[in-house]
Amino acid sequence: MENESRKKKHLTFGGCDTIALAEKYGTPLYVMDEQKIRSKCREIQENFLGKYENTRAVYASKAFLNMTMCKIIESEGIGLDVVSGGELFTAIQAGFPTQDIIFHGNNKSYEELSLAVKYDVGRVVVDNTYELEMLQKIAKSNKKKVRILFRIAPGIEGSTHKYISTGQKDSKFGIPLAEDQLNHVVAFALKASHLELMGFHFHLGSQLFENGIYVAALDVLAKLMKDMKERYGFVSKELNAGGGFGIFYVEGDQPKPLRYFTDQIMEKVKTICHEMGVPIPQVIIEPGRWMVAEAGLTLYTIGAIKDIPGVRTYVSVDGGMPDNPRPALYSAKYQADIANKMNLEKVQKITVAGKCCETGDILIWDLMVPPVKSGDILAVYNTGAYNYSMASNYNRLPRPPVVLVNEGIDHVIVRRETYEDLLHREEVPMYLQKKVK
Ligand code: LLP
Repeated sequence: MENESRKKKHLTFGGCDTIALAEKYGTPLYVMDEQKIRSKCREIQENFLGKYENTRAVYASKAFLNMTMCKIIESEGIGLDVVSGGELFTAIQAGFPTQDIIFHGNNKSYEELSLAVKYDVGRVVVDNTYELEMLQKIAKSNKKKVRILFRIAPGIEGSTHKYISTGQKDSKFGIPLAEDQLNHVVAFALKASHLELMGFHFHLGSQLFENGIYVAALDVLAKLMKDMKERYGFVSKELNAGGGFGIFYVEGDQPKPLRYFTDQIMEKVKTICHEMGVPIPQVIIEPGRWMVAEAGLTLYTIGAIKDIPGVRTYVSVDGGMPDNPRPALYSAKYQADIANKMNLEKVQKITVAGKCCETGDILIWDLMVPPVKSGDILAVYNTGAYNYSMASNYNRLPRPPVVLVNEGIDHVIVRRETYEDLLHREEVPMYLQKKVK
C-alpha cells in the first residue's frame, strides 16, 4: 500500500523510483534507460536493416558516448560514428569492432587519422582535400588500404536551428559542389594507391522532421553520381544519408517514426539506381539524437525560489548550463515535472534557472508545476542526447554522474566528478609556489 502511494507521487523511470535515485546518488544526476535505447536499436533492425537488403546503421556517438554505451550498441548489431580521437579511443577501449566504425569530422588531425588507420577503422568519411592527401600518406606509410567516402555539401537546407543545420551550401562541412572540387578529389582518390573510394555521404542537419530534404539531397547526389560514372566510370558502392531524425521535446514538435525517413530514402535510391542502370549501393544511416534523447532524464534539486511579484518566479536548481548547454546555445526547450509531486495539480508557473553566474542560464521558461518548495526534485525529460556529451565544468561545477537504469536495477556508468578531479591536471609553476612577501 505504501509502495503504491509512493508510486503515485513519485516519477518512475526505467522501473526505478527517481526520488530514490536522487537520494542514492545525489543531484544533478543523469539517468539513462537501457531498455529505451535498445528499443530504438530494435526499431532500426525491424524497419531498416531487416527490411532492406544491404543496409547499415551506425550510431552517431557524439550524442552520448562512454564505454557502456559502446557495449549496448555493439550488442544490438549497430555500428558507430565517431568524430574525434577521443570518441575513437573510447570505442577501442570498449573493444568495439573497429571495422564497424565510421570516422567523421571536418578537421581530423594527423594523430587522429593515424589512430584510425592503425586500428583499421571501417570507413573514413573524407571532408576536404587537406585530409585526403594526409590520409593517403598515412595509409601508405602504414601499408594499409583505407576505405573512404566523400562528404558532400549538397546545398540543401532543412528547417532547424541555424547552428545545427549542415547541408546548406555555406557550410564548413563537406566538399563544395563547385568549380571542379569534387572532380579533383574523386580523381585523386581513384588514383591513390592506398585509398579505396566507396561512395558519398551527406548529413543535412539535426532535429529534422521532414523527409523531403533527404529526397532533395538524393536528387543532388544522383546528378553527381551520373557525372562520376560518365567521367571516371566510378559507380558508388555506398551511400550514407547521415542522421538528423527529430524527436519530441515540447508541444509542437512532431516526430515521425524512423520508417517515414528510411522508406522514403530507400525508395528514392532505388529509383535513382534504376534510372542510371547501376546496382543499388549499400545505404547507411547514422542517427544520434533519435537513439538516445528519450532514454535520458536529468534530476535536479530545487534550491532558492525567488518571486518577483507581477514578473516571474525563478526556481533555481543545482545544475544548469554546464550539464545542459542546449537552452543557452540553441534556445532549446524541454518539458519537466516535479518528480516527488506527480499526483498534484499543476497550478504554478515557474522559470527554472541554473546556478551559473549567467543571465542566460535558464533551463526552462514558463513551466507549469504543482506548488514547489526548496528540496523538491525536478526531472527534465528527454535529455539523453547532447547533454552529458556537451557538459562542461563552467563555474567549476563538477560534472554529474550517469546512472544506467534497466527494469528497476540501477548502475553507475560514469562516476560524479569530485573537486579533486577538477584539479587533477593542474600544475602550479615552481616560482609561484613560493610565498611572496
Ligand atoms: N552524422 C553526422 C555526420 C553528424 O554530424 C551528426 C550530428 C549526426 C550524424 C547525428 O545527428 P543527429 O541524428 O543526432 O541529429 N549539439 C547539437 C547537435 C549537433 C549535431 C551534430 N552532428 C544539439 O544539441 O542539438
